[in-house]
Amino acid sequence: MEVFEKNDKRTHYCGTLTTKNIGERVCVLGWAQKQRDLGSLIFIDLRDRSGIIQLAFDETTDREIFDKAFGVRAEFVLCAKGEVRERATKNKNIPTGDIEIYVDELKILGKAQTPPFEIVENSDVKSDLRLKHRYLDLRRPDMQRNIIARSQISNLARNYFNENGFIDIETPNLIRPTPEGARDYLVPSRVHPGKFYALPQSPQLYKQLLMYSGFDRYIQIARCFRDEDLRADRQPEFTQIDMEISFTDEDEIIAINEGFIKYIFDNFMHKPLETPFERITWKDAMERFGSDKPDMRFGFELKNISEAVKDTEFKVFAGAIENGGSVRAINVKGGAKFSRKEIDSLTEVAKQFKAKGLAWLKMSEAGEVSSSYAKFLSDDENAKIAEIMKLEKGDLLLVMADKNSVVFDVLGALRCECAKRLGITKPDEFKFLWVTEFPLFEYDEEDGRYYAKHHPFTAPMDEDYHLIDTEPGKVRARAYDIVLNGTELGGGSIRIHTTEMQEHMFSILGIGKEEAQEKFGFLLDAFKYGVPPHGGLAYGLDRLVTLLLGLEDIREVIAFPKVQNASELMSKCPSFANPDDLKELGIAIITDEEEK
Ligand code: AMO
Ligand code: AMP
Repeated sequence: MEVFEKNDKRTHYCGTLTTKNIGERVCVLGWAQKQRDLGSLIFIDLRDRSGIIQLAFDETTDREIFDKAFGVRAEFVLCAKGEVRERATKNKNIPTGDIEIYVDELKILGKAQTPPFEIVENSDVKSDLRLKHRYLDLRRPDMQRNIIARSQISNLARNYFNENGFIDIETPNLIRPTPEGARDYLVPSRVHPGKFYALPQSPQLYKQLLMYSGFDRYIQIARCFRDEDLRADRQPEFTQIDMEISFTDEDEIIAINEGFIKYIFDNFMHKPLETPFERITWKDAMERFGSDKPDMRFGFELKNISEAVKDTEFKVFAGAIENGGSVRAINVKGGAKFSRKEIDSLTEVAKQFKAKGLAWLKMSEAGEVSSSYAKFLSDDENAKIAEIMKLEKGDLLLVMADKNSVVFDVLGALRCECAKRLGITKPDEFKFLWVTEFPLFEYDEEDGRYYAKHHPFTAPMDEDYHLIDTEPGKVRARAYDIVLNGTELGGGSIRIHTTEMQEHMFSILGIGKEEAQEKFGFLLDAFKYGVPPHGGLAYGLDRLVTLLLGLEDIREVIAFPKVQNASELMSKCPSFANPDDLKELGIAIITDEEEK
């Protein structure tokens, strides 16, 4: 290996060289993508974060350098100096394909074994192998672009909020638990044996306290930790763009955040974006799309057909209505081309969302009707359904009968699934949406109690407050989500800012006075000293970047993500702790055996 010296500094990134540099002597640094030995000629593609440039060696090259180039293998780290010249044979597939560097100085700064996978764009290497060698995976041009894009977007976020008078304030990561509905990650205290910190699920309480302190407009790009089941859009640690404002209301928060998204579209996407975004209440979102985060790029809206079949003899439909549920349907335009097999697989999708079955009817382009349920209904009932659903040739009706929550979940999922299968959704089409007036509480049937739908610091709507003791399920919250193409990008609310209301909220949530004082005493105390009305919002940065780049998994925009079971395959964490460390922390591990 050779020594990297002071005058080995790069003059250009590989991908930035153009025909304008012809005749210049340059120095480039990077990794050998591949080496081609044509006998009297050797070519090496050199790669850095900007792209690739061809290094050329021929019979006029110094013998020692030629021999060194001969020994170069993929992923060797090189320093190459020489003159930029026009290529004899041009490569139209790469931006620097018209030029090459005729090398007169070459250093091998690092050797490499054959990597476990090739470092190329769009590799179809198994995810686990990529993550085990993430440092290699991150060398791939698409991963480099993703990570650089993320950096640009978070910088734009800082700029935008800074330009609008927001103050960037760091809040602690070792805190008392802040409830956001997930499990906490706990950190044991050595100094206070038996006591634990929690890692923040969000900076929620601290950002509220900063409003009480008079900072007025707060922004933080904050790391959050939630011990919950992972999915394509969830990681145990993730990043929020977190903001809060004093003396505000929903309209102002929405306007500032629409301004932010537009700023990202102007400066990163370089695409015009129309504002204001559409707004829809939670109730309408559920009724029309079966989801509180509807994808607005296509229709297939839900229609309630209960009225048309309320007297039917078909037990599946009648039973659902009798039990307080409903019968609803979507009209999948163009869905008649799905085969029986494809409809069966849609039924399987429905079953993942607790459906007992899926009823369907299709009308072919020739006007022939086939159906799983039509024979059980009267002509009149079938005609009414056709009318409500505006049935035409080429359509597929999907019908669900069950309790409302299941009907919404199933049809909400099927409309997205069908759009995907029909290729209607384009990743470069962006439909933003505000969902407002969420319910304040969510009833958990298993636990037999109410939970805060957003978090316990969200204010109820004034006009519903009188229902909070008698019909808490009907109280709407001053909460809003920003949704993009069927993904919840961010959420926020106007907060409670009086002791009375906060205590009331805790009591409905079954948090007694003592427990409230114990867990949130500092917040309740702070209320005594003058609290401004305030509210805010937090985006998932990982989700924002993923969607803007047209990707599907947030792991593609996180340098070192975790896998499904919350472990990290490269460093193999979590790992067992050193027994001495545990002893010092006053922690003993009880194995399953011992517990028995
Ligand atoms: P919320 O819990 O809705 O609100 O979180 C805000 C946004 O954070 C993102 N997000 C996640 N991203 C990746 N992995 C996760 N596990 C994960 N969990 C959440 C989502 C979500 O919309 N304190 C409130 C905000 C407020 O009221 O101001 C909060 O955290 O994109
Ligand atoms: P069955 O009488 O059970 O054979 O059902 C007739 C049709 O109704 C089949 O296509 C079933 O898949 C469908 N089906 C069963 N349960 C439901 C339900 N809850 N909602 C809608 N369709 C259903």
